[in-house]
Amino acid sequence: MSERYYAEIVGTGHAVPERILTNFDLEKMVDTSDEWIVSRTGIRERHIADENTYASTLGTKAAISAMEMAGIGADDLELILVATVTPDMPFPSTAAIIQKNLNAPKTAVMDISAGCTGFIYGLSIVDSYIKTGIFKTVLLLGVEVLSKITDWTDRSTCILFGDGAGAVIIRATLERKGILGTYIKGDGRLGGLLMMPGGGSQNPASKESVDGRLHYLKMSGNEVFKFAVQAMGEASTTILEQTGLKAEEIGTLVPHQANIRIIQATAKRLHIPPEKVYVNIDRYGNTSSASIPIALDEIRSNGNYKAASPLLLVAFGAGFTWGSAAITW
Ligand SMILES: CC(C)(COP(=O)(O)OP(=O)(O)OC[C@H]1O[C@@H](n2cnc3c(N)ncnc32)[C@H](O)[C@@H]1OP(=O)(O)O)[C@@H](O)C(=O)NCCC(=O)NCCS
Repeated sequence: MSERYYAEIVGTGHAVPERILTNFDLEKMVDTSDEWIVSRTGIRERHIADENTYASTLGTKAAISAMEMAGIGADDLELILVATVTPDMPFPSTAAIIQKNLNAPKTAVMDISAGCTGFIYGLSIVDSYIKTGIFKTVLLLGVEVLSKITDWTDRSTCILFGDGAGAVIIRATLERKGILGTYIKGDGRLGGLLMMPGGGSQNPASKESVDGRLHYLKMSGNEVFKFAVQAMGEASTTILEQTGLKAEEIGTLVPHQANIRIIQATAKRLHIPPEKVYVNIDRYGNTSSASIPIALDEIRSNGNYKAASPLLLVAFGAGFTWGSAAITW
């Protein structure tokens, strides 16, 4: 009988830009208030990249930390997979640029576009590659520099987002641990609720596209909110059913950090108490595909991280996409 592999996270890392933009800073830029932002979203501050910082800059830093924790070198990597909607450029992929920065010439490289669910999609892909024996050591990243596609005159979106990168090293193991299951879904009919219409083959960059502000993120916040609450609940209960875990067995719920009210609604639906719910949205805002791997690195840097296991990861995002994963350390 052939060997059965499981995919285990053996290293984590994250990187955020130094510059912090607080709600009080935003009060000077648009008609908003710290009180409104905190009460509607839970966000107090976010990190914003300078003009010389790109997705690959943050991703490379996060990757180096994750490789150090895992005790591996660039030569050990077989695949670099980057989840992002803010790549350095349409092509080559940000994974290829990070590969060059890391000097990891033996790897396959690819980017995936699944919005804020990108990291969960990535886990699902990596899990399949490892289970089938195709790759044994993979670098998976969620990397976003959303500040570069944010319309800083639109108060309904510019308060929400932040920049950052999270990385994990995933290795094949013969023990039953690591990724216990993943679940991913999409519904393209809802794509128009959250999109950046410019810069692709439909609306290539032109004077008209720039004048029309098509290169900025557009969002119908209210509808996204309603969809998110439903999708996060559905993805969480599905992964519990699929893995046979009970909600009370979950050590830590790691939800995508989009809005504290969406996080609370998800935890409430699962009857998971607040002390088991990981929240860092107050410090980072919504960093899209980076939010879950940043949280994983913060959890892992706590000496008692094994007590936080098993973890239920759940996200939703542009596409629309949604998904979940259950993992153990
Ligand atoms: C964006 C979001 C915080 C807005 O909160 P909301 O409670 O839905 O607020 P509304 O959009 O209904 O707006 C309520 C009022 O606040 C105003 N408002 C919007 N942004 C504001 C801001 N930054 N400061 C002050 N007032 C603001 C609106 O203009 C509106 O005023 P009106 O009633 O006079 O028209 C919320 O809808 C949300 O988080 N949606 C999900 C977004 C998301 O997660 N996106 C990422 C997906 S991965």
